[in-house]
Amino acid sequence: MKKIKINYKKLLKKKNKIPITCLTAYSMPLANILDGKVDLILIGDSVGTTLYGMKNTRGVTFEMMKSHGKAVVINTKLSMTIIDMPYNTYRNKKEALKNALEIISFTKADFIKIETDLNNIEIVEHLSKNKIKVVAHIGVNPQKYSDFKKIKSVGKQPNEAKKLLDLAAKLEKAGSKFIVLECINQSTAKKITDILSIPTIGIGASKNCDGQVLVIDDILNFNSDIKKPKFVKNFINIEGSISMAVNNFVRDVKNKKFPLSKHSYK
Ligand code: KIV
Repeated sequence: MKKIKINYKKLLKKKNKIPITCLTAYSMPLANILDGKVDLILIGDSVGTTLYGMKNTRGVTFEMMKSHGKAVVINTKLSMTIIDMPYNTYRNKKEALKNALEIISFTKADFIKIETDLNNIEIVEHLSKNKIKVVAHIGVNPQKYSDFKKIKSVGKQPNEAKKLLDLAAKLEKAGSKFIVLECINQSTAKKITDILSIPTIGIGASKNCDGQVLVIDDILNFNSDIKKPKFVKNFINIEGSISMAVNNFVRDVKNKKFPLSKHSYK
């Protein structure tokens, strides 16, 4: 079957009909596997905690995002790509535009994602006016936390819910193409999704969103030492398969069963 390139128009049409899928990738092999299977591939700043063992995402540099971004986008032909702007790279309009233009022109990602609240809506507006396609990220903003253990869901209290609804509406008006809802309770996620004409992508925000995103390492169970948030589901135990392969390699080397002559040059 011929595979078809995904575009924003097609994703917009999925709103309220077919759930949109998004997973993170930070490298070529995973981009190759995900390409065409998910609608969106996110080069998230979660790269810091998942690949580099950082305690939070604040240590992720612009250069790290650029190089992981390029590795993923070059190897993505069918899905659309979103790249995170790392911490402290979009503190004002001028800085945000300069860095967004640089990261887009270097990586060729389709969208940039920024963590948003009432204080930086004008940045979304400024970037959108300058033809940058922006994904806003509301609810829990991980870049605000130095300690991820302190993260709690939001949106349950009526005043909190009202603020989130108001924020989401303003972000759509400012030009956001999607809004990521992180750790927002079910009923508020539904209300936000219902009032917007752009799609919402949830992470820990229930099935009441237009799509779902998760960190790839979490669904694969790459590292069982890391405590996962409640919203993560393991779909396979890759850690177990890798451990088995490593144990088999060590056993074969020790028993001189690897390498054989077929693995050697004459
Ligand atoms: O960095 C990331 O992977 C993200 C997701 C958690 C949405 O922003």
